[in-house]
Amino acid sequence: MKVVIDTSENIARLAAQQYKELLADKPDAVLGLATGSTPLGLYAVLSNMCKAGEISFAKAHSFNLDEYIGLDGNHDQSYRYFMNENLFRNIDINISETHVPDGISSNQQNAADYDKLIEEAGGIDLQLLGIGVNGHIGFNEPGTPFGSLTHIVELTDSTRQANKRFFQSIDEVPTHAISMGIKSVMHARSVILMAIGENKAQCIKDTLEGPVTEQVPASVLQLHPDVTFYLDHDAAKLLTK
Ligand code: PGA
Repeated sequence: MKVVIDTSENIARLAAQQYKELLADKPDAVLGLATGSTPLGLYAVLSNMCKAGEISFAKAHSFNLDEYIGLDGNHDQSYRYFMNENLFRNIDINISETHVPDGISSNQQNAADYDKLIEEAGGIDLQLLGIGVNGHIGFNEPGTPFGSLTHIVELTDSTRQANKRFFQSIDEVPTHAISMGIKSVMHARSVILMAIGENKAQCIKDTLEGPVTEQVPASVLQLHPDVTFYLDHDAAKLLTK
C-alpha cells in the first residue's frame, strides 16, 4: 500500500497525475469513479487539465460505484446528475461511454449484470474511492460480505439521515441504492482511496492499521496489490506507522 499525505489541494493534484499517466499509457482505460464531496477537488483538477489539453478522456470508459434506487438521471440528487455536472460536461469523454448504475430499472436480480458490463469493457484499470466515517466504500456498509458483487442495498437510518440535507425532507431520501460490491472493487487493477478531514481519521486508521474485517469494509484494501491512499493531514492524523 502506498500512502500519500499532503494538503487537500496537493492530494487532488497528485491523484490527477496518476490519471494523466494512466491515460497517456492507455488512452482507452476503464475508470471506476465515485461521488461525494471528497473527489470534487480531483474532478476540478482533471477538468482544468483537460481544458488545457494536458489530458484526454476521449477514448476512456467509466463506471460509477453506485446510484440511488428510484431516482432517474435527471434528478438533481442522482449520482448520474452529479457526475454530469462535476466531471463529464467539463471533459472530453464520450458520454455514451460513461456508466452509472440505473436507479430506475435495477433490482436484486439484474444488479450483477453491471459487473458483466465492466468485465466486457475489459475490467476497471483505476478505481477511485471515498470512504464513509464507518469505513464504508460505495454503499457497502459494515458487515457487507467481501465476496459481494453489485447489489441492492437498504440504506441505514444513519446514512439516510446524513444525506437528508440534500433533500426537501427525510421522506424524499431514497431507502435503497445499487452499489458495486467489495469483490467488484477488488477486481480493479489499481485503486485510489481519497480521504479529507478529521472526521475520517479514525476510519483511515482502522482501514490501514486495523485488522482486515468486514466490519470495516475499506480494510479489505490491505489485500489489494496496487492501492494508493491520498490523505490530507487531518485524515492521516491518527496513523502511527
Ligand atoms: P464524502 O463521502 O466524500 O462526501 O465524505 C464519502 C463516502 O461516504 O463514501
